[in-house]
Amino acid sequence: MNQPAMEGIRLNVPGYVTHARLIAWVAEIAALTEPAEVYWCNGSEQEYQRLAERLVAAGTLLRLNPELRPGSFLARSDPDDVARVEDRTFICSRSPDDAGPTNNWMAPAEMRALLQTGPNALFKGAMRGRTLYVVPFSMGPLGSHIAHIGVELTDSPYVALSMRVMTRMGRGALDVLGSHGEFVPCVHSVGAPLAPLAQDVSWPCNKTKYIVHYPETREIWSYGSGYGGNALLGKKCFALRIASTMGREQGWLAEHMLILGVTNPQGKKYHVAAAFPSACGKTNFSMLVPPAGYEGWKVTTIGDDIAWIKPHADGRLYAINPEAGYFGVAPGTNYQTNPNCMDSLGRDVVFTNVALTDDGDVWWEGMTAEPPAHLIDWQGRDWTPEIGKATGTRAAHPNARFTVAATNNPVLDAQWDDPHGVAIDAFVFGGRRSTTVPLVAEARNWAEGIYMAATMGSETTAAQAGATGVVRRDPFAMLPFTGYHMSDYFRHWLDLGARLQEAGATLPRVFCVNWFRKGADGKFVWPGYGENMRVLEWILGRLEGRAGAHANAFGLSPAYEDLRWSGLTFTREQFQSVIGIDRAAWQQELALHDELFTTLAHHLPPELRETRERIAQRLAAA
Ligand code: GTP
Ligand code: SPV
Ligand code: MN
Repeated sequence: MNQPAMEGIRLNVPGYVTHARLIAWVAEIAALTEPAEVYWCNGSEQEYQRLAERLVAAGTLLRLNPELRPGSFLARSDPDDVARVEDRTFICSRSPDDAGPTNNWMAPAEMRALLQTGPNALFKGAMRGRTLYVVPFSMGPLGSHIAHIGVELTDSPYVALSMRVMTRMGRGALDVLGSHGEFVPCVHSVGAPLAPLAQDVSWPCNKTKYIVHYPETREIWSYGSGYGGNALLGKKCFALRIASTMGREQGWLAEHMLILGVTNPQGKKYHVAAAFPSACGKTNFSMLVPPAGYEGWKVTTIGDDIAWIKPHADGRLYAINPEAGYFGVAPGTNYQTNPNCMDSLGRDVVFTNVALTDDGDVWWEGMTAEPPAHLIDWQGRDWTPEIGKATGTRAAHPNARFTVAATNNPVLDAQWDDPHGVAIDAFVFGGRRSTTVPLVAEARNWAEGIYMAATMGSETTAAQAGATGVVRRDPFAMLPFTGYHMSDYFRHWLDLGARLQEAGATLPRVFCVNWFRKGADGKFVWPGYGENMRVLEWILGRLEGRAGAHANAFGLSPAYEDLRWSGLTFTREQFQSVIGIDRAAWQQELALHDELFTTLAHHLPPELRETRERIAQRLAAA
C-alpha cells in the first residue's frame, strides 16, 4: 500500500495499518513538514539495531565497549539542549483560565499560526532532508483499560529509538488501535531542516523551542529540542499534561509518581505511590534495597516516574506505570545509593551526557568516590580531576540520564505489566527541603493530605533549565506537568476522595516526607536511600494501626521510639533535627503557602484555606 502523497512524498504505509484517520494525519503532517521520506516503526529488535547503526553513522551515538557495556551507547546533546524547558512549555486551552496562573498560555489559533498555519510557521518544511518516523506507542500495558495510545511523528531517530525503550512501541500499539481507535497525535521536530548535500550535526536542534499542548483536542506539538521530556512526547507531554486533563474529565489521576511494591517478612504486600519533584528521588525510592536490620523485607518496582490511577468497582484506586523504561538521572547513582539501578545499567542502555572513560565505558559524578584520572566529558572535551577543579566543570552534565528498559531492573515487580494495575495503599509526597519540612508526617485525613501535597515546596534541580537550589512551590510535584488550572486539579483530588468515601471505600492514607534536611555543616542529616526503608516501615505500621505517632501542627509524626533503628546509628538528637517542627520556620512556611493560595485564589477549594487555619491555630498553641 505504497500510495504517493501530496507534494510527492511517499507515505510508505505498511499493509497492516488500517486506521484511515491516522494515515490521513501522517499525510497532512508530511505535507507540512516535507520530510525526505516517511518510515513507520514496527518496534522490532532488528529495527532498533538499524536505528542505532544509523545514529552511530551520524555521530549521534557512540557505541560503548561491548565487553564492558554490551549493547550500549553514549549520546552527547547540544550544550543548549540538556533539560526540560519550562518557560517554553505552553498549555493552549481556549480559555486562559483553564490553563491557570502556573502554566504558560497562548490562544490555540495564535499558537497554530506560529507553528502550522502562519506565513513563517515553524513546522513548514521543518523536516526537509530528514526522515519522518511514525512512532505508534501504548502508554500502559497493551490493551489495558487504564492504558491509552499515542502516535508520535518525529524527525529524530534518537527519539524513535528512545521511544522503543520507554514505551510499548510499534505494531502491537497499532493492533490495539485497530481501524477506528482513539490516539493522541504528537508532532515533534528538532527544527533543523537539512539542505541538500549539507553535512548534519550530531545533535540537531533549534535555539527556538516550543513544547505545546492543546488539551481540548488532545494534541502535542514540540519543536526545537531533542532532549528527554521535551521530545519523548509519551512521557511528560502525554502521560502527565494531556493525561491529567483526560483524568479530570473521566474521573482518574495522572501523576508524577513512582509506584512500588513492599513485602514484609510475613509475606504481606503493599503498594505505595509517591510523588517527588524532578531529580528528588523517585527512581531511587522505587528500587530501594532494605538495609541491615530488614531481613525478609523486599521492595519491587512497578514504575519510577509516572502513575496512571483509576478508581475500580471495589472502591480502591488501581495504578499502572504507563511507561516501559526508565529515563533516569545518572549523577549520584552508585552501588551504595542505588545498587538495583546500577545492576539495571549493565547492558542495552543509551546514556546521554555522561562522561566517557578511556576504555570506552561511562562515568558520572558520584558513580565512584574517586573520578578516573582521565575522561572525555559530556561535551567531548578532555577532562581530568585537575581540569575539573581548575575550570569548575563537571565530567557529566548534572542532568545526564540513562534510558533503559524496565525489564533490565532486577527488582521489577511481577505485576509491573499487569493490565489491571495494583491497588494503592498509601500516597507519599516529598520535596527537597534543606530546612523546615519534617522527615515524615501523616495527614490526619484526605483533605489534610491534599493540603500537604498542594503546598509542597522543593529546591529546583538540574532537571529543568534555569537556576538550581531555589525553593519554589511544586504542588503534588506537578507544577510543570498539570495540563489545566492547578486549583481545579486540587478540586479534582478532593472530589475523587469524596466520591470514593461516599461509596464506602477506604481511601489510601497520605504522608509527606523529606529526605533532604541539612545540618549546620551543610550536609544531609538523614542517610537516605536504603535507610528510607525505616520511614516506609513506619508508614506501613500506620496502615496496620501498629506504629505510634504524635500530633503536630503539621500532621502526625513518629517519636524516636516509633522507628526501627537496628543496623543504623542515628541519635535522638539527629532524629530531632530532621523531624522537629520549628514554630518560627513554620510561620514563614505558612506565609509561602499563602502566596501560593493568592496566586491560585480564583478557583481555590475552600478546604485548603480551612486546613491552613487549623495548622496556624495549632502552631499558635504549640
Ligand atoms: P526525575 O527522573 O527527574 O523525575 O528524578 P527522580 O525523582 O527519579 O530522582 P532520582 O531518584 O533520579 O534522584 C535524583 C537525585 O537525588 C540523585 O542524584 C540521587 O542520588 C538523589 N537522591 C535520591 N534519593 C535520595 C535520598 O534519599 N537522599 C539523598 N540525599 N539524595 C537522594
Ligand atoms: C523529569 O524532569 O521529571 C524527568 C525527566 O523525569 S524528563 O523526561 O526530561 O522530563
Ligand atoms: Mn520525572
